[in-house]
Amino acid sequence: MPDWSELKRLAAARRPIAALFAADPDRAAGFSARADGLLFDYSKTAIDADIRAALLDLARQAGLAARRAAMFSGAPINETEGRAVLHTALRNPEGGPVEPDGADVMPGVRRALARMRDFACDLRAGRFTAPGGARIRHVVNIGIGGSDLGPAMAVRALSPYGDGPEVHFVSNVDGAHIADVLARVDLARTLFVVVSKSFTTVETMTNAATARARLEAALGAEAAPGHFAAVSTAQARTAEFGIPPERVFGFADWVGGRYSLWGPVGLSLMLAIGPERFAEFLAGGASMDTHFRETSAERNLPVLLALTGIWHNQICGHATRAVLPYEQRLELLPAYLQQLEMESNGKSVAMDGNPVRRDTGPVVWGQAGTNGQHAFYQLLHQGSRVVPCEFLAGAEGHEPDLAGHHRLLLANCLAQSQALMQGRSLEEARRRMAAAGYEGTELERQARHRVFPGDRPSVTLLYPRLAPFVLGQIVALYEHRVFVEGVILGINSFDQWGVELGKEMATALEPLLEDGETGAEGQDGSTRQLLDYIRGHRS
Ligand code: F6P
Repeated sequence: MPDWSELKRLAAARRPIAALFAADPDRAAGFSARADGLLFDYSKTAIDADIRAALLDLARQAGLAARRAAMFSGAPINETEGRAVLHTALRNPEGGPVEPDGADVMPGVRRALARMRDFACDLRAGRFTAPGGARIRHVVNIGIGGSDLGPAMAVRALSPYGDGPEVHFVSNVDGAHIADVLARVDLARTLFVVVSKSFTTVETMTNAATARARLEAALGAEAAPGHFAAVSTAQARTAEFGIPPERVFGFADWVGGRYSLWGPVGLSLMLAIGPERFAEFLAGGASMDTHFRETSAERNLPVLLALTGIWHNQICGHATRAVLPYEQRLELLPAYLQQLEMESNGKSVAMDGNPVRRDTGPVVWGQAGTNGQHAFYQLLHQGSRVVPCEFLAGAEGHEPDLAGHHRLLLANCLAQSQALMQGRSLEEARRRMAAAGYEGTELERQARHRVFPGDRPSVTLLYPRLAPFVLGQIVALYEHRVFVEGVILGINSFDQWGVELGKEMATALEPLLEDGETGAEGQDGSTRQLLDYIRGHRS
């Protein structure tokens, strides 16, 4: 059991961040780390040398090194599901043998990647066509959760490299989602990629059935199967749906849904950017794996990012963290990280079956800068709650002709973390109000509204430019961060039992929403009232 008491004591005595900078001219260098072109700066937090040492000790006591080795070796660390956790094998296709059950999985990884590559090359070159011979111009990825968020985030992030078909995403069971996408595509030139690890997820199967029905109505029943590919571990079910085996891309159950972007679940990304760029994305992830495995904890980005998270969430008690990419094309990163972090570490029971005695994963939220500045940053700067912020930015953009925009973007990113840390005192606010012509009680009243408490922590991750390799590094960095936090908290980051109850109840409630159905006995009063309202307002 890790000992948290020393950290609690240090937290109670922590010094203001600005004072730490004043006391140590080399603080920025001392409280940052680099990995293959990335710079992670955590100097704008209250972590000092003693706190860092205690945090590192916490990770040691939790057995991080052994747990990390177990994960990479293919041990069944997802204990509640009895599975290995080997998404790292997907991004290291040329790596040595990995043998979760005594058999090397790497030949299968290479075969799956080669099949994806062949298919992507054929489709992108026009050798694979729709049944009528039309070239595929649109790809619609139908999936949800890990079968949607990763590919959608990455396709958006790497859009400057998108030289293949236009890729669309349908996830929500809300008919509006598929209706809106279908209105934008030419069915005769569209491939639907149904992505579902289980191939039972209601949203995905409902959307896939709707796509098939639309295809059959528009192009005929014989043509429909030719417009489908599937990504799944459940090949009997893909066959039942009518998807020809040559367009089914399988993967093993040792890849968790929210960690699956690196393999066949990334097919729509590969179709968009091509196999070479996809390989660069994998290489970025593999580079972060090497860094995570081989770099000492004091300079290890995933470890340090995790420790800042533990410090802010579990020790300082800040319940949420904001992810703030100053990169418009990372606008889906907060949603992606919500699943990665909250589905992984939103648990209350420890690996050994006992209750966890502290708060586990924080609430993760955020938005691309600078948009957030004109929305919720008010609360970040002056709200009564402290929200640790995680800034991300690229030194360069993809629009050399718009370099002025990028300068402004970066200036804003740097200014925000500086403003959060420095704040503005009442004296300074008074001085500024006086300079603006205020005096007396009005000056005093106004000045108080213009005080910024400061001492608000943030970390910043800088990268050269948002290229495929860099995106791979970033995604793998966050994956390992979640892993390290999970190890320290003593929970299983790789199951997700918490999503099941609501799904079961939805299945039970759906018949009550059928036309003409009136029975709701046995439901609670609120649910009965909500059902009555819906029935009363349907035409
Ligand atoms: O509802 C949770 C979940 O199981 C996620 O973990 C997963 O990413 C998503 O649903 C989709 O699952 P599948 O790929 O099996 O359709």
